[in-house]
Amino acid sequence: MILRNLIYYFLLYKTCLAVVKDNFRECEQTSFCRRLRNLKPDQSRYILNLNSLQVSENSVEAELLNRNENVRFKLILSALAGNIFRVYADEISPIHARYRVQGVLDGEPQVSKIEILKRDKNEVIVQSGNNKAILKAEPFQIEFFTSENLVAVVNGRGLFNIEHLRRKSNIEVKEGEENKEEQSEDSGAWEENFKSHHDSKPRGPEGVAMDITFPGAMRIYGLPEHADKLALRTTGPGGIDPYRLYNLDVFEYILDSTMALYGAVPVVYAHSATNTVGAFWLNAAETWVDIQNSKDQNVVSSFVNLVSGQTKENKVDVHFMSESGVVDLFILMGPSPKDCVKQYMSLTGVAPLPQYFTLGYHQSRWNYITEDDVTTVVENFDEYDLPLDTMWLDIEYTDGKKYFTWDPIKFAHPDQMLKNISSTGRHLVVIIDPHVKRESGYFLHDDALANDYYVKTKDGNVYEGWCWPGSSSYPDFFDPKVSDYYKSLYSKLRYDNVDNDIMIWNDMNEPSVFNGPEITMPKDCLHYEGWEHRHLHNLYGFAYSAITYKGLLMRNPNKRPFILTRSHFAGSQRYAAVWTGDNDAKWEHLAASYPMCLSEALGGISFCGADVGGFFNNPDIELLQRWYQAGIWLPFFRAHAHIDTGRREPYLFPEDERHRIRNALLMRYAHLPLWYTLFYEHERFGEPVIRPLFYVFPKEVEVIDIENQIVIGDSVMAHVISESGASTANVYLPGGPLTYWYDLNTLKKYNGNGWMSLSVNLDFIPVFYKGGKIISRKDRPRRASTLTHRDPFTLYVALDNNKSAKGTLFIDDNESFEYQKGKYLYIQFEFKNNELKSSLIDATDYETLEWIEKVIILGAPAGVKKAVLNSNSLNFMELEVHYIDDVLIIRRPGVSVREPFTIKLL
Ligand SMILES: *[C@@H]1O[C@H](CO)[C@@H](O)[C@H](O)[C@H]1NC(C)=O
Ligand SMILES: *[C@@H]1O[C@H](CO)[C@@H](O)[C@H](O)[C@H]1NC(C)=O
Ligand SMILES: *[C@@H]1O[C@H](CO)[C@@H](O)[C@H](O)[C@H]1NC(C)=O
Repeated sequence: MILRNLIYYFLLYKTCLAVVKDNFRECEQTSFCRRLRNLKPDQSRYILNLNSLQVSENSVEAELLNRNENVRFKLILSALAGNIFRVYADEISPIHARYRVQGVLDGEPQVSKIEILKRDKNEVIVQSGNNKAILKAEPFQIEFFTSENLVAVVNGRGLFNIEHLRRKSNIEVKEGEENKEEQSEDSGAWEENFKSHHDSKPRGPEGVAMDITFPGAMRIYGLPEHADKLALRTTGPGGIDPYRLYNLDVFEYILDSTMALYGAVPVVYAHSATNTVGAFWLNAAETWVDIQNSKDQNVVSSFVNLVSGQTKENKVDVHFMSESGVVDLFILMGPSPKDCVKQYMSLTGVAPLPQYFTLGYHQSRWNYITEDDVTTVVENFDEYDLPLDTMWLDIEYTDGKKYFTWDPIKFAHPDQMLKNISSTGRHLVVIIDPHVKRESGYFLHDDALANDYYVKTKDGNVYEGWCWPGSSSYPDFFDPKVSDYYKSLYSKLRYDNVDNDIMIWNDMNEPSVFNGPEITMPKDCLHYEGWEHRHLHNLYGFAYSAITYKGLLMRNPNKRPFILTRSHFAGSQRYAAVWTGDNDAKWEHLAASYPMCLSEALGGISFCGADVGGFFNNPDIELLQRWYQAGIWLPFFRAHAHIDTGRREPYLFPEDERHRIRNALLMRYAHLPLWYTLFYEHERFGEPVIRPLFYVFPKEVEVIDIENQIVIGDSVMAHVISESGASTANVYLPGGPLTYWYDLNTLKKYNGNGWMSLSVNLDFIPVFYKGGKIISRKDRPRRASTLTHRDPFTLYVALDNNKSAKGTLFIDDNESFEYQKGKYLYIQFEFKNNELKSSLIDATDYETLEWIEKVIILGAPAGVKKAVLNSNSLNFMELEVHYIDDVLIIRRPGVSVREPFTIKLL
């Protein structure tokens, strides 16, 4: 069976993808991109007819005219709660309705009141809170102001465009215009004749485009998913291709590239030391985005001398170009990176709190080949005392790639296997892909044919493509009857006699079609209500993971689902975690994992990781160690490997290497309470779990291009080492001389004085606690996170220059929804005036036996002789203290975390 798969793999997949770039289109080969990109700036054809202006409590609406072609559009500008403007434009009487994205916004956004400050035939000034928008009639453009500062201009360069069919007696398109993009059969022929394909229902060109200028901006971030720099680079005709958003299964993707990958999140954040403003382009069709930075990257030094303030010369221009749909643009008015991201999260929703175990270590490979193999791997982790929470099964566990079945020989006792895994506190994740094997007798295929569940070709036949099982068809997840049916399938993966539910990995959901154009579904395939695949391509994986999420909830309403998805869109965070797909066992791919996940986090998807060790090829042992050391600081932490690679479970390595990997794993496990608390706070407050430096230190110009450092919440900063043989690391310590950073490996204190060369060896990468933060850890080594729930905490109190610190800790049952009913503890720790104090942030309770075992104070005051603990149950108990340099250790307070307490240093 494996041999057969390998043959498929090599013949059908690898050979046709040998040269990555040749298999995927560039803007020039994509007719809508070429058309929209070729518009000349400053020749806007659009006029806003302000005589038609209608004003309501939250919005203004007016007719927009294309003066060359006399077509009428409606334009709506509305104010939304939380400092957001929405710009919406659609045709007034289209020949064909345009596709509007469904399900991505987390409910209808709340609106906000507006006031009209001025109105004449040339312009309208709309005020909402501290923000202002000026709509200009001719040429049409909208200027956005925070207080009195101009921060964004929509259509400032006049590239706004909505392509449309002209209404004539016979429907026809503009002369000399090529029409639709490539259609179906032949992946080589990008451009085909319109008429041969659209006899019945021609739609014609329906591209939409908008330019946005961000005056004063120094950098722009966002637009995941790309294997590129965190700060978006300048693209442009003759230069780099625009950033492409078109979910694709890209085999052996290349780095430093604007090519499309598996996910698409059309949000950007334009940033300077004084202001940040974002734009969210809600469109699920193929989209290309040109970026022009007025200042190149890698010349940061030229900014450094700038007085922090807006300078006229800085600006960033963005040009969104989509194949179809309406204009639905959200301007996130900031003014800080944190505000912008929270504004974006308020639109697309937050990730619900995951189960605690999902933050532990995941061990995957393509493939653990039998039940015995799985058991042996778990036993070896125990034997070598390496923590592990979750085992993963890739496609080979199924019966011939028929999902929701098990291989009858190699996985003959799934319930027993799961029971065995669960008995050691571990969990299991299995892969379920969207393609369905076309084999009669396979229940899923039979049901799909009988009930009309599949996506159709343009001629109305069931679409057939080629994927892992061979000939496959693809359920139309946009059809409510398919959704209802498919949701129920997940109950097949539940075993009543086992505690732990199997969780799900949705892969290949771009969707991947080995023989399709660009390895995906032809754009003229038909979905529910007749929408073409082109209209909603980027939503296919999103819709699929939403169904999986609901299916897992149906299966067990008491356990928080865990899903990993490869394809994703804006809003996917509400349903699933993501990883960066099929990376390579190379140092550069390790380096790329930080900016790629940081970009996802800014795009709302914090639960992100990269395959530790690299998916393709065999990492050397130094790279593997470094990958574990860096991977523990990304939210999703999984090792995974291609079927052709050698085994590389950590227990297979010699003692020194194994110990280093074990130390990395233990460091991850020690910080699980922090990760868990951050995910809770993400759900509650909408901040990303991991943050780039510019997010945490927005006023610090030097950090705008730093992407090899990551801040976990606001308390821990890690620096990836992505080169062989490193003996020093060039680390940037932000914040200025009054900010302290404590090196986690030495507990030595540094000031935030900028660049610093730090000696490193193979044992660690640079990681720092920020002065002013209290981090709750569980330092006792255990085999799995599920076995740590009764372990005591050690509080690391990292003092700032005022000898103060603060931190939070969230505790609940780790797996259910009871926390939503008040069954949790949300604790604040605060140290000041030589006293550590705990208090409950909310008046809630949760019964737990956890207690405080130790308090470690970094940068402690000198001369402390003892400590006195006071709480209701333990009043005025004296505690022993001792110093190691300026670290003060308070032994065994022994107080329950449930109980408010103080510890006074004397
Ligand atoms: C489960 O564990 C038992 C005891 O170690 C072992 O004999 C059995 O083969 C395992 N079953 C599966 C399906 O892994
Ligand atoms: C220390 O206290 C001063 C005065 O209250 C305050 O301005 C400063 O921000 C504090 N420093 C830190 C690092 O919190
Ligand atoms: C979950 O973890 C908490 C704290 O870590 C612990 O008090 C609780 O008993 C655990 N619950 C379960 C169901 O394991």
